[in-house]
Amino acid sequence: MGIILENTIPLGRRKEEYIAMFNIQQEELTYSILDCGGGPSSFNREMTKDKGNVVSIDIIYQFKDTEIQNRIDETFEDMMKQAQDNKDKFVWNHIASTTELRNLRKTAMTMFIEDYQSGLKEGRYIYAQLPTLPFRDNEFDLALCSHLMFLYSDILSYEFHFESISEMLRVASEIRIFPIVDLNCNQSAYVEDIMASFKAKGYEVTIEACGYEFQKGANKLMRIKKH
Ligand SMILES: C[S@@+](CC[C@H](N)C(=O)[O-])C[C@H]1O[C@@H](n2cnc3c(N)ncnc32)[C@H](O)[C@@H]1O
Repeated sequence: MGIILENTIPLGRRKEEYIAMFNIQQEELTYSILDCGGGPSSFNREMTKDKGNVVSIDIIYQFKDTEIQNRIDETFEDMMKQAQDNKDKFVWNHIASTTELRNLRKTAMTMFIEDYQSGLKEGRYIYAQLPTLPFRDNEFDLALCSHLMFLYSDILSYEFHFESISEMLRVASEIRIFPIVDLNCNQSAYVEDIMASFKAKGYEVTIEACGYEFQKGANKLMRIKKH
């Protein structure tokens, strides 16, 4: 199953961004939360510091902190240049400028790297690869997936989405996925079929607006719940 770190582009978001994009309510901050594809986000670290209960899984967690940091250093400037070159694809509102974007992402990833060793030891960062999760049935209240599913619909198959969502629903009572658009800012071609499939299986599936929009049109999440 090995992946090559050189094929990944690590980019991480902050806790405040997760809260906004997933419509996380104050009382939900105490839930046991699984972050799928957590990458170099600081969500786990910031939640842990605030007495939260978060486990993150990602394929990059098989690598050492120095290896992930090197990969961040190799790719960061290019990612920022791409954001600058494609400025019209983003809403410069909450994040007002490329300077702010740079600071936000750097801060998130620095916080992640500083937390990574202790998080690995404490079992808060676990190497795993969707669509398989190394957890018991219903181990979590909530499973989140930020900027992985739907966004990369051009390279990740419908089967990958279906199996990953099924697996997230096996281990958590509720799941939330953000965004539901692809990289071209169009609603993912999988959204309708995923909704129909999981409704047919008896789940409550909703799409709801959230208070976060950076990539244009990426302002809705999908919520799937057990009845
Ligand atoms: C764009 S990053 C998003 C990181 C974080 N969720 C955030 O929003 O800041 C996508 C992450 O998904 C991870 N990933 C890709 N395929 C995966 C898979 N099959 N299973 C688990 N993680 C995966 C990548 O390694 C990367 O860290």
